[in-house]
Amino acid sequence: MNVLRSIDDIRSQVRQWRQAGLRVGVVPTMGALHKGHLSLVEAALLGCDRVVATIFVNPLQFGPADDFRIYPRDEATDARKLDEKGCHALFAPSEAEMFPDGITALKDFKTVVHVSQLTEGLCGAFRPGHFDGVTTIVAKLFGIVQPDAAYFGEKDYQQLLVIRRMCRDLNIPVEVVPVPTVRESDGLAMSSRNQYLSPEERHIAPLLYQTLRGVAERLTAGDDKLDSTLSNARRALLDAGFTKVDYITAADVETLEPLESLKRLKSGARVFAAAWLGQTRLIDNVPAT
Ligand code: PAF
Repeated sequence: MNVLRSIDDIRSQVRQWRQAGLRVGVVPTMGALHKGHLSLVEAALLGCDRVVATIFVNPLQFGPADDFRIYPRDEATDARKLDEKGCHALFAPSEAEMFPDGITALKDFKTVVHVSQLTEGLCGAFRPGHFDGVTTIVAKLFGIVQPDAAYFGEKDYQQLLVIRRMCRDLNIPVEVVPVPTVRESDGLAMSSRNQYLSPEERHIAPLLYQTLRGVAERLTAGDDKLDSTLSNARRALLDAGFTKVDYITAADVETLEPLESLKRLKSGARVFAAAWLGQTRLIDNVPAT
């Protein structure tokens, strides 16, 4: 696998592939790769002739109280995993390569990509600026790599919809491909942040998925007391040892409008939650219809 660090190098590599008529997929990541990321690479290898993974811990999407400085970084291990999977290239730029003006805070950027509405609820309500940081960096990565397709996990379902909307609205010719969440055997969604959990927190963590499943089953069975189902679910998480629940809610799969305020479901529903175990924020979601 080729490891490329400069924008010129990755551009000319991808240009060469595309001139040869090959379809190129990209898997954008922040590293600390786990089986969830590797399933994105697998999906990309199935759908494309050449696959580029990117590793860049993006300062723009972290808030001041977030874990940017301590975010796990181990490029050598990541590169080995990607190589073993059959990934063709890794683009791992430095901060100076991505931000030549030395600007690493969103507020100082001259150009920011903002997707409205979809970013307002769920995580967007609790992480101001986060999705602007994501869309701005992903737009840059798409402009740099110029792939045919990009692969994103459904664990970050809101991110997936936001990026898809950005491509649609800005006519960015990249097919955004969703890939199902990969879970540990006890149901916990794979996440780079799971490694922050203490053994005790790790024991409690799968309850997030079980709780979401419980709400989804009730919804599917035609629950007409959604408000109390959701408040019981929140209470169950807190009773089990979750320290804070940012949200647990059911929403339309396309618009992310909460079901409680929707007269009619447009396409289907998913149940979403974000909850804290100590210093670690976990998110997850499951389909409900
Ligand atoms: O999902 C992630 O790891 C990040 O948000 C992404 C898409 C790589 C942008 O930094």
